[in-house]
Amino acid sequence: MFDLHPLTDESLREAQALAAKLFPWENEHQDALAAAVAGPDAAGFLAARGLKSVRVWCVMEEGRVVGLASLYDYRVAPDEVWLAWFGLAPEVRGQGLGSKFLDRIIAVARREEKSVLRLWTTIEDEYATALQLYARRGFRPEIQPALPGEHWQTVVLSLALKGGLSRPWRGGMNGMHLCGRVVPAAA
Ligand SMILES: CC(C)(COP(=O)(O)OP(=O)(O)OC[C@H]1O[C@@H](n2cnc3c(N)ncnc32)[C@H](O)[C@@H]1OP(=O)(O)O)[C@@H](O)C(=O)NCCC(=O)NCCS
Repeated sequence: MFDLHPLTDESLREAQALAAKLFPWENEHQDALAAAVAGPDAAGFLAARGLKSVRVWCVMEEGRVVGLASLYDYRVAPDEVWLAWFGLAPEVRGQGLGSKFLDRIIAVARREEKSVLRLWTTIEDEYATALQLYARRGFRPEIQPALPGEHWQTVVLSLALKGGLSRPWRGGMNGMHLCGRVVPAAA
């Protein structure tokens, strides 16, 4: 068992550096991580995205940040929560840590009595391990239409936390930025 460490001011820079390495095509993680430790100063970031909160946890190994996960709570869907910026440093992958980390995040969402845990990712080789992990945990995929200029497929994955099947997402937040990206139009 390992500890989940809420992001702190002290670990922010290192966590931002790991996020930048893990997700070089995105940039919202830099602001999201800062917002998670900013207290009242996060109000602008949250309001612009319709968020109630953004929270970040780290996995630490020998004092280093080796893993990250965030939960976004959107005001329009109070019984749902979105997982974002989830990943491990390359040197700690492939030993079961990612599976345990995801289980801990699912447990957080269950404890908070959320009905659905969602995330988005893309169907590309670099996310093959993650997609397998989500499928094993019972996340159901909804493939989204590509945005203009995109050559990859975005998929929203949803896990029902109270049994049964998850409510489909179906592009229910059109026009909003969703965990760092423009939401595709509803299928
Ligand atoms: C996704 C990620 C967190 C998984 O963490 P991990 O510690 O490597 O995963 P685990 O060791 O717990 O293995 C998870 C599953 O993937 C499989 N797996 C692990 N490494 C693999 C590899 N290199 N190739 C193929 N399958 C692999 C495991 O066998 C396991 O499958 P199982 O559940 O069927 O047994 C990690 O690979 C990562 O950080 N990737 C880069 C960032 C990323 O993709 N984030 C997700 C964005 S949506």
